[in-house]
Amino acid sequence: MPKDKAGKLIPGKLTPQRAVPASIPRPEYVGRPGPAPHQGGDKYSDETITRIRKASKIAAQALEVVLTSAKPGMTTDDLDRIGHEFLISQNAYPSTLGYRGFPKSLCSSMNEVICHGIPDDTVLEDGDLLNIDISAYIDGVHGDTNGTVLVGQGSQELEDLVTRTKEAMHRGINAAMPGRQVNIIGRAIETYAKRYNYGVVKEFTGHGVGTSFHTGLIIPHYDEPAYDTLIEVGMVFTVEPMITLGTADWDMWQDDWTVTTKDKQHTAQFEHTILITEDGPEILTEA
Ligand code: MF3
Ligand code: CO
Ligand code: CO
Repeated sequence: MPKDKAGKLIPGKLTPQRAVPASIPRPEYVGRPGPAPHQGGDKYSDETITRIRKASKIAAQALEVVLTSAKPGMTTDDLDRIGHEFLISQNAYPSTLGYRGFPKSLCSSMNEVICHGIPDDTVLEDGDLLNIDISAYIDGVHGDTNGTVLVGQGSQELEDLVTRTKEAMHRGINAAMPGRQVNIIGRAIETYAKRYNYGVVKEFTGHGVGTSFHTGLIIPHYDEPAYDTLIEVGMVFTVEPMITLGTADWDMWQDDWTVTTKDKQHTAQFEHTILITEDGPEILTEA
């Protein structure tokens, strides 16, 4: 996705699919239209949590490597290569590669792209907002994380959007105490975002993650009491709010992946995979 004359992103050219060594086990959905239904709920045994910790740490390290590499003049495909190579160096499979047909090893979502941008020949420029969402599959489980940075020098408005979106995520995470309902998470996020008149995207949510990439458990980022699942010790899920400068409404590109704000104003996102302990939430996607 390069840019049009108005500076808005347009679809770009993709490189051929990257290879993963045959020695690295694939998730079951690779080579299929979509994943098998998730089995076994959202609470995990200590043994499985040990494995999710490892996958989450690798995902977090991959995110750090990619975000610190991002410089003006690089393409989002360059970042995909860096993320891909890091993951396979750790014997992890890039969870997005072949997930429902997604063609790359991470999502790169710039400026007005809310989520699920596909790495291509778009060149990063000074002042671009860049979100990288990367996930690792290893030992039968996934860890999922994302973060947003300003490439080069940005405006105060964008700096504030990034800082406050991260804070919104942390407020959502901190609200995730055992015994509450998952709707407490979205209430905390939306209440904070509304202070600044930001939009909170509703249709893309946090999710259970572990033995499946997306288990079916939905974690809303806005206040919706109907999401009344009880938060329990041993659960693992993501919190990943998408916050917009203007409207929270969106359009989908013809690639059926890239989601952009309807008003083409900027948007940011942060994501962690968290474990619910007796003492509260623990962030697993820490490098
Ligand atoms: N990592 C994303 C999430 O946070 C999912 C990406 S799915 C893909 O849930 F197919 F777009 F890669
Ligand atoms: Co996620
Ligand atoms: Co993600």
